[in-house]
Amino acid sequence: MFSGSIPAWIGENLLSLIFLSLQANEFYGRIPSNLCQLAKIRILDLSQNTLSGAIPLCLNNLTAMVQKGDPDGIIEHNYWYSVEGNKSFWGDSYVEKAWVGWKGMKYEYERSLLLFRIIDFACNKLNGEIPDEITRLSELVVLNLSRNNLIGLIPKNIGQLKQLQSVDLSYNHLSGPIPDSMADLNFLSYLNLSYNNLSGKVPTGTQLQSLEASAFMGNQALYGPPITQQCPKNDTFQPQPPEEERDEFNRWFYVGMGIGFFMAFWGVFGTLLLKRSWRHAYFRLLDNWTDSLYVTSMLSSARLVRKFKS
Ligand SMILES: *[C@@H]1O[C@H](CO)[C@@H](O)[C@H](O)[C@H]1NC(C)=O
Ligand SMILES: *[C@@H]1O[C@H](CO)[C@@H](O)[C@H](O)[C@H]1NC(C)=O
Ligand SMILES: *[C@@H]1O[C@H](CO)[C@@H](O)[C@H](O)[C@H]1NC(C)=O
Repeated sequence: MFSGSIPAWIGENLLSLIFLSLQANEFYGRIPSNLCQLAKIRILDLSQNTLSGAIPLCLNNLTAMVQKGDPDGIIEHNYWYSVEGNKSFWGDSYVEKAWVGWKGMKYEYERSLLLFRIIDFACNKLNGEIPDEITRLSELVVLNLSRNNLIGLIPKNIGQLKQLQSVDLSYNHLSGPIPDSMADLNFLSYLNLSYNNLSGKVPTGTQLQSLEASAFMGNQALYGPPITQQCPKNDTFQPQPPEEERDEFNRWFYVGMGIGFFMAFWGVFGTLLLKRSWRHAYFRLLDNWTDSLYVTSMLSSARLVRKFKS
């Protein structure tokens, strides 16, 4: 229940911060632009406060969000307690954990923490447009700006954020089309653009069409697959997902990583394209997988291949 404005000393003095969560307090006022000096910050979570004003343009100064993550990186702290004079000292270490919002759920995360690049300003009263500067944070993995009063267009270069896996812009007043470049986000596995004022056709790209229609609901003038006339399902918010969900999350994180995934995908896909028996064996294996997006996209590719062959 901290309140008041976000203290200036955070941005001015805590220059080694790697993550900052002020989530669910009562901070109000603007996001101070000196937070942009936190060049090492990887997780910036200001969600669920009463912050107002515009998103600072200087976000592109968050240089850690432009640098590649370390898949094996844990953040370990060593500390020493010593008493001068009688020479007694005692040391210990601990590994940093963080609660990370992911596909609409919260996960306590320790392993691979250094992979994350997260901006979460959800549930505030931010207004103005989403600054284009945000599209320079090339290693951003999670962007959550939902439930604010943002207006204007979705930045048309959002497709530059190649590592994005989860984007939530729901419950704002964004208008205009969904930028075509969004179809370039190969690793996007969660998208929520619902309850805005977006219009036009959903850009065509495997990733966007494989999402649930509920990702787009509440935008009167949007059309095209996957939007249908069906009643959307109610999303429920679970604070801690079951074990297998977390495994899925781990898997997605590793599978979703950069070029390795791309090569693996096309390696497998190319083989499947060529050999029918391998294809069948592979899909039996895939049955065990729970990642519906991956499975759906592979199955629809297989369907295409079959159509093509027959
Ligand atoms: C952003 O970075 C530039 C260059 O390093 C610096 O001159 C500027 O003061 C920074 N802006 C903010 C608000 O931190
Ligand atoms: C974005 O933040 C809101 C509020 O904290 C949360 O309800 C929502 O699930 C988050 N979205 C994602 C994709 O995690
Ligand atoms: C929605 O966008 C249209 C233009 O695309 C505009 O005319 C209309 O006023 C907007 N509605 C709201 C509620 O913002």
